[in-house]
Amino acid sequence: MPYKLLFVCLGNICRSPSAENIMYHLIERAGLSESILCDSAGTSSYHIGSPPDRRMSAAATQKLGIKLRGSARQFQKSDFQDFDLILAMDRENYKDILSLDPTGLYRQKVRLMCDFCSKYTIKEVPDPYYGGEEGFNQVIDLLVDACQGLLKHLRSQ
Ligand code: 4NP
Repeated sequence: MPYKLLFVCLGNICRSPSAENIMYHLIERAGLSESILCDSAGTSSYHIGSPPDRRMSAAATQKLGIKLRGSARQFQKSDFQDFDLILAMDRENYKDILSLDPTGLYRQKVRLMCDFCSKYTIKEVPDPYYGGEEGFNQVIDLLVDACQGLLKHLRSQ
C-alpha cells in the first residue's frame, strides 16, 4: 500500500496544489512514484472545481519548470482515514482541520508543513492570494525546502 500525503490550505488553488505538484516532482525524481501518493484540498469551499491560480502556476513554471495540475476540492472528514499524513500550510488551516476531529483520534496525522523546512525558520507558508508576485515566488522556495525535508523524513521511516 502506498503512503498517502494530503496537503491542505484555505482555497486549494495556491499553496496546497503547489506542495502537491512539487512533492510529486521530487518523488518521481527519486523513483518513489509507486510508494508515495499526493493529493491536496482546501479547508474552504470558495474555489471548488477551480484549477490552480495562474499567478501560482506562473511562479512554479518560472522557478521550477513544472506545470501545476489539479482541481480544487474541500477537505472532508473521510480524509482523516484515507491519508497517512496531512500537511497544513498555516496554523489556521491546522486548527480548522483539527476542528473536524473533535475526539482527537487523528491528531497525530496532522502536521504543519513548515515543520519539515531546514533552510527556512518561518513556521507557516504565507497566504499569497492578496499579495504580489514576490509572495508566490516565496511560496515556491519555502515549499521546495519543506518537500525536500518531508521526503527525507519519509525515507528515514
Ligand atoms: P490558498 O490561497 O489557500 O493558498 O489556495 C488562497 C486562495 C483563495 C483565497 C485565499 C487564499 N480566497 O480568499 O479566495
